[in-house]
Amino acid sequence: MEQALALDLVIERAAQSRLPQVDLNNPAFGRTFTDHMLSADYIGGKWTNVRIVPFQNLSLNPATSALHYGQAIFEGLKAYKSPAGEVLCFRPDENFKRMNRSALRMCMPEIPEEIFLGGLRELLNLDRDWVPQREGCSLYIRPVMFATDAFIGLRPSETYKFLIFCSPAGVYYSAPVKVKVETHYTRAAQGGTGAAKAAGNYAAAMYPTKLAYQEGYDQILWTDGKEHKYIEEAGTMNIMFIINDTLITAPETDTILPGITRKSVLQLAREWGVPVEERKPSVEEVIAAIQNGTLQEAFGVGTAATIAHIKVIGYEGVQYELPDVQNRPFSNKVFQELEDIKRGRKPDTRGWIMKV
Ligand code: COI
Repeated sequence: MEQALALDLVIERAAQSRLPQVDLNNPAFGRTFTDHMLSADYIGGKWTNVRIVPFQNLSLNPATSALHYGQAIFEGLKAYKSPAGEVLCFRPDENFKRMNRSALRMCMPEIPEEIFLGGLRELLNLDRDWVPQREGCSLYIRPVMFATDAFIGLRPSETYKFLIFCSPAGVYYSAPVKVKVETHYTRAAQGGTGAAKAAGNYAAAMYPTKLAYQEGYDQILWTDGKEHKYIEEAGTMNIMFIINDTLITAPETDTILPGITRKSVLQLAREWGVPVEERKPSVEEVIAAIQNGTLQEAFGVGTAATIAHIKVIGYEGVQYELPDVQNRPFSNKVFQELEDIKRGRKPDTRGWIMKV
């Protein structure tokens, strides 16, 4: 059944929903996908063939250039169900803007707002019954764009595919995390792609992260690529510290992913009068602050992870225990505030919510 909409969006509905086979109260992260997905193609210098279709596999030529040269970028955002049953999507305009900044860096075409945000709205409307309402659960939304030229010469592709698909999700980290300060491998170098949400950044992190797992850690605390002295990010998240009542986090440079949770937490902190310093803390400063008791909180912030308390920092073979999670007023308060806004329990006074 096909139904044409404004913006040349065509909707082909799934013959039968798979929702009855899914336990929305207990979704694992990233394994189950909703009934539909949005798809668009960039051909001949313009975006075309914008459709919502049943979620399905893709058929790719083996020479598809994204598979070889990595022109692939993605986003992550979430939708929630309010107590009144409305679908609320958190700051999708920020993901839209970041995706286009990633596209620029990776020499890919920008996606128009009507396809990203307009298409997302239609997709969420169609799959609205898939949005979990239970505390801790949400609908994780994954926009992705990749190069599709069937050509193995090295040059920017001339064709691309853009997709948005969704997955009901539970928590990403089920417990406070142990992180290892990385002093050999590098996530991002000055002038590199660290500020882009590029697939290759995540691929390059996998081997060092595997080594950290083998040592009993959950994630890596990435340091700067030049001297490995300054703390930049934590695994899939931005990292924040509260030292002497001041919130410290790395500034948005070309080695830092400009996180939307990061931006939201900083705005709330400033509104609440918490002193904020956007600078990279040195590893030495953080270890000294743990030792002299001035480090009050450490937490990762990200879409999938939301606010993830750090419980242990490992550095040069020593595991430093951090204060009890119950005694962390800022990160607990900001987590609760964000949850209340995202789930429609507090009014959206900042224009952060797209209601569907
Ligand atoms: C997100 O937080 O949305 C991310 O993109 C991280 C991903 C590795 C799950």
